[in-house]
Amino acid sequence: MRHFLDLESTGAEALRLILDEAKRRKQARAGRPKGAADDDVPLAGHMLAAIFEKSSTRTRVSFDMAMRQLGGSAMILSSADMQLGRGETIEDTARVLSRFVDAISLRTNGHDKVEALAAASGVPVINMLTDSGHPCQIVADLMTVEERLGRSVTGTVWTWLGDGNNVCQSLIEAAGLLGYEMRLSVPAAYDPDDAVVARAEARGARIVVERNPEAAVAGADVIVTDTWVSMGQSGAAQRMVAMGPYQVTEALMAKANPSAIFLHCLPAHRGEEVVDAVMDGPQSAVWDEAENRVHAQKAILLWCLNKLG
Ligand code: CP
Ligand code: NVA
Repeated sequence: MRHFLDLESTGAEALRLILDEAKRRKQARAGRPKGAADDDVPLAGHMLAAIFEKSSTRTRVSFDMAMRQLGGSAMILSSADMQLGRGETIEDTARVLSRFVDAISLRTNGHDKVEALAAASGVPVINMLTDSGHPCQIVADLMTVEERLGRSVTGTVWTWLGDGNNVCQSLIEAAGLLGYEMRLSVPAAYDPDDAVVARAEARGARIVVERNPEAAVAGADVIVTDTWVSMGQSGAAQRMVAMGPYQVTEALMAKANPSAIFLHCLPAHRGEEVVDAVMDGPQSAVWDEAENRVHAQKAILLWCLNKLG
């Protein structure tokens, strides 16, 4: 069974297949009304149960739109309204939902929870964000970079600024699979997991820690950041102080390649990790990146449900 829990276990071949399908489907429906179905509807009659234990705008709407455009439907569920919120186990929830639906997706804290869901599930499970990773987001990010730069991500240089968080870790995994350089410009106490870095390096990726943000962005093709305080994290005041020097400003963008683009998974905290002039500036690709979530989700769903590759 094809679960989509992290990029490392998905592998390079499947990730490339998913990326190309996302681009193909985006092009095929250019100019169509957003509610219109795709030309083909390979998920007709299929149902996704999407469970959220944390807030979401993009992920919940893009999964719902993706299922509709592919001919299926999604049930958007809040764990607080489910028996899961009153102590029913994740395994029993998986066993029951597997009898009803064709795929389950989960946004939660611990990565072990999404793994436990997958282990007990009779249908594919998709990680919609855990404290360890956000693989669906990275499919949209990779797609956006290839669209905007007009070439493969392989061989490009990315600089991550701020917190070495879940999104950062999934980008490092993708660097290992697709072969791009990741420069990590984060305060020492907020480094990503060593094991994630080691796995990407073992695959031949160049992962460089450069704590000076100006040196880190020099010659980069992609500048990427995220909130300094992820959902569920404490120590906001301390984080603001430590990450202050890593704010993405116009002056910092000017030190990257002239063709460099700015990415942010959103939601952005304007005036914290990024200033308005960058978010709304000519190098910002954040709205394309957000739109690409729906195209990416489709390809992920199709791969999980054995309709791709
Ligand atoms: N980027 C992202 O996952 O956004 P949401 O939290 O709104 O889903
Ligand atoms: N790092 C952020 C991403 C939100 C989409 C968080 O986990 O809150």
